[in-house]
Amino acid sequence: MNAAVGNDVVDLTDPAIGRHHENERFVARVCSEDERLRVSTARDLWSLFAANEAAYKALVKLGGAPGFGHRTLRVAPDLASIAWGDRRLALVVTGDGDHVHAVAWIGGGRPIARVARAGASGRGESEDARGVLRDLVAEAIGCAAGELEVVRDRVAGAWDGFGPPRVVRAGAPVDADVSLSHDGGLVAAAALFGAERIDS
Ligand SMILES: CC(C)(COP(=O)(O)OP(=O)(O)OC[C@H]1O[C@@H](n2cnc3c(N)ncnc32)[C@H](O)[C@@H]1OP(=O)(O)O)[C@@H](O)C(=O)NCCC(=O)NCCS
Repeated sequence: MNAAVGNDVVDLTDPAIGRHHENERFVARVCSEDERLRVSTARDLWSLFAANEAAYKALVKLGGAPGFGHRTLRVAPDLASIAWGDRRLALVVTGDGDHVHAVAWIGGGRPIARVARAGASGRGESEDARGVLRDLVAEAIGCAAGELEVVRDRVAGAWDGFGPPRVVRAGAPVDADVSLSHDGGLVAAAALFGAERIDS
């Protein structure tokens, strides 16, 4: 069995994205034809966008990924699953008035996830997101967050030179696949346990 999780948070208070749902070209880039019919609000659009990004982050770890191809991913109308080719990921999209948060996963159990305001570490969003992830995993496995480290290995050809994040405790990998996201004033993390048999 392969198992992987991806998550994506979108800060809906960002004025730069508030009207994108009225921009037909942008909507057409993000959504399949069927999905376009479901977009009438910013939340509708960014829920689909976050679902695609979350699925992308999971799929890339399983050795396949759509690349810059939002439209090749199909989000179910009930936002409970997302498909790419013959792969189908479970999906949960949550959020309040301020944000949407998507978690997509395949295999494993049910992921745990959390969204928080940025600023806790005083060292930027990346570090804030890592703090949320460490807390989440520490609570789940019953250790102190300080025992956990979030690492990204160097990967030649990766878009930023590094592979996906993973969690290490005393030098040993924790049996969870994980995902980070940050946008605007928000950070988010997700963890899927029982994910030790990832292909890549
Ligand atoms: C990699 C990508 C998904 C990151 O998403 P983003 O919305 O820009 O940024 P987010 O804050 O949500 O996520 C960033 C985090 O993703 C994680 N990440 C980076 N590369 C990753 C990968 N290959 N797989 C999984 N997670 C990855 C990192 O932890 C990163 O945080 P960090 O820089 O603090 O370590 C995105 O930039 C990308 O390359 N997209 C291109 C593919 C595409 O078009 N996808 C749309 C769906 S088809």
